[in-house]
Amino acid sequence: MGKGFFISKAVGIAAIIVGAGALATIIALSVVYSQEKAKNNDNVLPTDGGTTSKPPVTTTAPSNEPWDKYRLPKSLVPDHYNVTLWPRLKQNLTTGLFIFTGQSTVEFVCAEETDLILIHSNKLNYTKRENNHLASLTSLGGVKAPSIKSSWLQQVTQYLVLQLDGKLMKDHRYHLHTDFTGELADDLGGFYRSEYMEDGVKKVVATTQMQPTDARKAFPCFDEPAMKAIFHITLIHDLGTVALSNGEEKGHDVQKTVFQPTEKMSTYLLAFIVSDFSFINNTIDGVLIRIFARTPAIAAGQGDYALNKTGPILKFFEKYYNSSYPLPKSDQIALPDFNAGAMENWGLITYRETALLYDETFSSNSNKQRIATIIAHELAHMWFGNLVTLRWWNDLWLNEGFASYVEYLGAHEAEPEWNVKDLIVLSDVHRVFAVDALASSHPLSSKEEDIQKPAQISELFDAISYSKVTSLTAFQHLKFTYLAEFAFGNAGYTDLWSHLQMAVDATGTDIPETVSNIMNTWVLQMGFPVVTVNTSTGIISQKHFLLDPDSEVTTPSIYNYEWIVPIKWMKTETIQHPKWLKNESVTIDEMKVSGSDWVLANINVVGYYRVNYDQGNWERLLGVLSTNHVAIPVINRAQLVDDAFNLARAKIISTVLALRTTKYLNKEREYMPWESAVGNLDFFYLMFDRSEVYGPMQDYLRNQVTPLFTHYKSLTDNWKNVPVGHMDQYNQVNAISLACRTGLRECQNLTNQWFNQWMETKLNPIHPNLRSTVYCNAIAAGGAKEWEFAWSQFKNASIAIEADKLRYALACTKQPWLLNRYLEYTLDPNMIRKQDATSTIVYIANNVIGQSLAWDFVRARWSYIFTQYGGGSFSFSNLVNGVTERFSTEYELQQLKQFKEDNAEVGFGSGTLAVDQSIERTIANIKWIAENKQNVLDWFKAEEKP
Ligand code: BES
Ligand code: ZN
Repeated sequence: MGKGFFISKAVGIAAIIVGAGALATIIALSVVYSQEKAKNNDNVLPTDGGTTSKPPVTTTAPSNEPWDKYRLPKSLVPDHYNVTLWPRLKQNLTTGLFIFTGQSTVEFVCAEETDLILIHSNKLNYTKRENNHLASLTSLGGVKAPSIKSSWLQQVTQYLVLQLDGKLMKDHRYHLHTDFTGELADDLGGFYRSEYMEDGVKKVVATTQMQPTDARKAFPCFDEPAMKAIFHITLIHDLGTVALSNGEEKGHDVQKTVFQPTEKMSTYLLAFIVSDFSFINNTIDGVLIRIFARTPAIAAGQGDYALNKTGPILKFFEKYYNSSYPLPKSDQIALPDFNAGAMENWGLITYRETALLYDETFSSNSNKQRIATIIAHELAHMWFGNLVTLRWWNDLWLNEGFASYVEYLGAHEAEPEWNVKDLIVLSDVHRVFAVDALASSHPLSSKEEDIQKPAQISELFDAISYSKVTSLTAFQHLKFTYLAEFAFGNAGYTDLWSHLQMAVDATGTDIPETVSNIMNTWVLQMGFPVVTVNTSTGIISQKHFLLDPDSEVTTPSIYNYEWIVPIKWMKTETIQHPKWLKNESVTIDEMKVSGSDWVLANINVVGYYRVNYDQGNWERLLGVLSTNHVAIPVINRAQLVDDAFNLARAKIISTVLALRTTKYLNKEREYMPWESAVGNLDFFYLMFDRSEVYGPMQDYLRNQVTPLFTHYKSLTDNWKNVPVGHMDQYNQVNAISLACRTGLRECQNLTNQWFNQWMETKLNPIHPNLRSTVYCNAIAAGGAKEWEFAWSQFKNASIAIEADKLRYALACTKQPWLLNRYLEYTLDPNMIRKQDATSTIVYIANNVIGQSLAWDFVRARWSYIFTQYGGGSFSFSNLVNGVTERFSTEYELQQLKQFKEDNAEVGFGSGTLAVDQSIERTIANIKWIAENKQNVLDWFKAEEKP
């Protein structure tokens, strides 16, 4: 443990109590003042009261001063911090604000002589110390510290800047002390507040979300992942409330909880929480596991599933990583307001309520799967991410991508019956294929110097970072020598490759090049190939797959858009020896087939590429699908459909060929192929649900899905039972959703009847697995009465998972006035929580009636939405992509371009890339419709002819 430095208890408390009294108002006011001032100030926020010399004020052209750079200089290295924070859970009645006050001392070592201290600080207001400065400096070891010449807050780059009148000396240690105040706002970032009602009383939780760059909003800190330090945390809080942080509670005083010092760790993994939540706990091999949530949720047993699964998953990862869990406790807490799904704070993982709380009567199998996988994901980070941390955010993909892969292994451990690993193809491979096929995609790895601003960092949390590495599945044979070497330190991807290489060498795995040569082709260039197998010549070749073949790739690649591709394949039901494709093309004689033989490549989709065949082989594969589809592995049946539809979108094969892959579905009962088809047909709905193709398409699909609907009807004894298998439960939802969507009368009657029964008896007869789709269909078929009923159920739901199903379904109404009113609700936090605003707007945009309403709404209020709701990393790109998904006309394209232009000044933050991706998608859609509409219409019509 680090050598702690503690502020004397008496001094600490005295300062805080003074603050609590008369000064509270002044502090609160000064928060408002500084924030108002910040808004009005371009760049520099002087708070030195004019008593010290001021640095040049940056106006238009940014100067090249160190405080104008987003990255910290390397001159100072933090060792440990002592931080005391006091969040006020009651509103100040004069100012209307919630605030927190704090004190911090950081001990740092000077690595290079300097007369400048830069430390991150955002939206904090400082109490002046000696000589009216924002901080004070002392030195350790006898020498005198230089005095502070000038101190100010640099707003754009988020620094507290201290200019000294002399140099800090190399290898000497110093203490920097600050007293500060911040607003405990409901903004979901840094130290923030979350509110909820309990027994008619409004309650407030103070909690944190630091990743990626908001620790600086809670206290001044060297807020970069490589600036690891030890943190001594103290929280001041009222009697009757519980304080939590990364470390174990060391001691309680009347008004405060002191925590054990943390391990050496990054600032983005810190967490501080004050609440009056309850918890349940158990202990596994000396590690204390606790689940915290609102008291009624814990009392109802909603934390039990998480508690039961955490221990086994933790044990699994200890074995997997060959490294014991490094902390004495593992807390997990469900928060009513939380921007992401969950956050891996070391020792104190935070979740949305829907991602942690489970209740048999309300939660679907999909909700349950999400809880198991998200717990596994965050626990995986305890080692990969927390113990060994990326050096800088450009390597974020390594952290998130790896966790997104091993979450499946952890979830499989928790629920071995589910076969969750198979779902990687649907949830990750297909997800990332969709964006990585655009010319506006980007390589996994970015250059360190290209990632500087907080919004650039936030933007990295995208489908590429999360899902591309998962799709590469290169980690399968990894042995964790890597963790041992870099524990408590920082590493990059090249370190990982060399450790992977050691594992490959040790096991004698046969690969054609070094790990690094192979992996770099996937990591350093964007996109992926389509591999074409010509079974009449035996030639297999590769080409960069672009959804729009006319789009221009402006990003150069050192590998010329060629990859080192593993080819696993089968010939007519027999798996063959795998091959590698290293160049543009190669001839493999065994791939030449004749007669009725067929070739299928990328078995079980272990490779990150699409496959195309010569027409003859396609015909033979279609023949197998129609006569004996089980001869093709189920994952590949899903893949054939997905490849065909996407190859058709890229004009590599005809759209009719793609549609023909859906003909066998009337015999298909498995979830994966159906889900893949539904996903691809969604694109057809988006493109055609406003056109004359719609009717014939509905007729065809209704015919295809009816046997599946009937299958589940009899399997469940007329909908009374639940299918046994996890995947079967999912496919039952597909059967009902698609049957109702395509207008199967029996389905619509069923869902309406269930919903009416609920409205009349107030007893909900609908199984949780089916609720989202049943609610949606009933609300779509109904009017204001159904909507209002669902809204009141939404407002009164006792578990967020039920509220979420209703929130989704409320967007399904066909009444424009209800949709418009619902849109208005999304920006009123009393109606829809801030965390849910953007996803609700996207739900509305997915509705064919809601589409243009949502687009108009977002356009009209962009700058408000952006400033009020712009914090999250995922939400903004999802919003932009979501409201533009259906765009497929010149007119919509013009509007989109206009939108980009009109808001250039406000900006798009973490949604910047999404705007370009949407433009590119719209252009591709316009062309696709022009070329395909007639064929598609003719095909659907012909299919309906007896
Ligand atoms: N570190 C992230 C949470 C996060 C995301 C923080 C973006 C800041 C910005 C966490 O590990 C994560 O990835 N959470 C996912 C869940 C996971 C199962 C994919 C999430 O929040 O959805
Ligand atoms: Zn993660």
